[in-house]
Amino acid sequence: MFIKTKIAGVEFNSYVLNASGPNDSTLEELEIIAKSGSAAIMMKSCTVEPRKGNPEPRYVRLPLGSIQSMGLPNKGYQEYIKFAPQLKKFNKPIIASVAGLCTDDYVKMVEAFQKSDVNLIEVNLSCPNLEAKPQVAYDFEQTEEVLSRISGLGKKPLGLKLPPYFEFAHFQQIAELIRKYKVSFISCINSVGNTLIIDPETETPVIKPKKGFGGLCGDYIKPIALASVRAFYELLKDKVSIMGVGGVKSGTDAFEFLLAGADAVQIATTFEKEGASCFERINKELEELLKRKGYASVQEAKGKLKYL
Ligand code: DHB
Repeated sequence: MFIKTKIAGVEFNSYVLNASGPNDSTLEELEIIAKSGSAAIMMKSCTVEPRKGNPEPRYVRLPLGSIQSMGLPNKGYQEYIKFAPQLKKFNKPIIASVAGLCTDDYVKMVEAFQKSDVNLIEVNLSCPNLEAKPQVAYDFEQTEEVLSRISGLGKKPLGLKLPPYFEFAHFQQIAELIRKYKVSFISCINSVGNTLIIDPETETPVIKPKKGFGGLCGDYIKPIALASVRAFYELLKDKVSIMGVGGVKSGTDAFEFLLAGADAVQIATTFEKEGASCFERINKELEELLKRKGYASVQEAKGKLKYL
């Protein structure tokens, strides 16, 4: 009860779900998520055609998180459309994640998912791992082009998976587009792109693709994610649901995102490391923390960050 939430008007029976990323590419993996404490079933970001992804090593665990450059390995959007009816029996919201290689791809996939059995569509504008394809959401013109062409294609709520921003002017610019095109939810943040981890023993980067430049995840990026959630909460509160992503590994982390203004949190690195039991554990920890602090629901604490 304590930790029920809503994203874009869709009920979630808990506060914690998987992030698009690890272990959500196949039907078997999605069924594991469906049977876990995850509030929803988030699918791997898909492309129009199936992809094998980047050469290995492409995902490495680190002391405080992970670095990855997967390169969008996925089965192609038509497979995920076929999975959706098979996942309906679990009675959880199903979320598609689409990552186009060009604007037309986004249009094609959003159009198709609008006619599918998924409940929500997350539009990934922030994959950092494709050679010669910069993250769309850092290009406000292309972002507007995508938004203008994908809005109005159907009734299912659309959300954006956003990269980290570091300037208030940029938060404001993207928030204006979110308002203008009536985006229903945002997921922030994607991994911090194009970071470099060097192994001093081998004198090489730890991953192979893009000469070692990859997306940083986990504890390292939690303060960046919290800042994004807070900045967008202040700009968009009550108009747009916000899912916080980045370094959540405990109920306390989830509570920090709640104070910043998140309606839910998504988990990638901890899910990859711990398995699907992490969702129930973190939900429970959050529930206990809320009770101990005297909050009767997540709604009561949402956005209630206090200032010094
Ligand atoms: C991949 C990484 C991302 O951060 C993302 O948003 C989508 C895809 C990947 O490399 O597969």
